Amino acid sequence: MAPRVLVRAPAEADVAAVRAAVLRSREHIAPWNPVVPDVLADLLRRQGDQLRTFIILDRADGGIVGRCNVANIVRGAFCNGTLGYDSYLPYAGTGRMTEGMRLIVDRCFAPEPDGLGLHRLEINAQPDNLRSVAMARRLGFRHEGFSPRMLYINGAWRDHDRFALTAEEWPGL
Ligand SMILES: CC(C)(COP(=O)(O)OP(=O)(O)OC[C@H]1O[C@@H](n2cnc3c(N)ncnc32)[C@H](O)[C@@H]1OP(=O)(O)O)[C@@H](O)C(=O)NCCC(=O)NCCS
Repeated sequence: MAPRVLVRAPAEADVAAVRAAVLRSREHIAPWNPVVPDVLADLLRRQGDQLRTFIILDRADGGIVGRCNVANIVRGAFCNGTLGYDSYLPYAGTGRMTEGMRLIVDRCFAPEPDGLGLHRLEINAQPDNLRSVAMARRLGFRHEGFSPRMLYINGAWRDHDRFALTAEEWPGL
């Protein structure tokens, strides 16, 4: 089936569209992640060796399907990154976010300079965040463990289930 989405690095010109997408997705995001309308402006300032952001766009109408950070990038013997993501209305729950995340995992494992040349990716999801846990499993991430009080989100330290995938396990390469 032809891909419904494309993935690219964000630019200054995307800030307004992402802002609108976050605002209309407020109730969808709020239980699990902070709702930050200007998230992209902040992320663009922080792009570098340890953080790379991707946006997922609908091929048909150019709308913003979602955003994914590859954060905590560590090189050396680890070559590891952590994926953090939000999908946006009206595309959430249509399978487009999963298509985009597959393309992003491809990019993460692809050698530099086209890809990020990483070897291991991690996803951390609150155990009750069933849609995020389903995303991790759909992408083939293994459940590696449980991390109590791992991340400070929406005013409290939240427990997370930790999922991981290494390049050897990824069917895309
Ligand atoms: C977690 C999150 C990113 C998952 O994204 P999503 O929008 O559910 O992703 P998709 O659109 O790919 O959804 C896949 C779902 O669409 C369904 N679907 C509908 N049409 C589909 C199609 N044509 N092809 C594939 N799947 C389709 C799938 O069955 C699946 O549903 P299920 O999870 O109930 O089985 C999203 O729920 C979100 O942003 N949540 C709020 C913020 C958040 O939790 N972030 C992550 C913190 S760790």
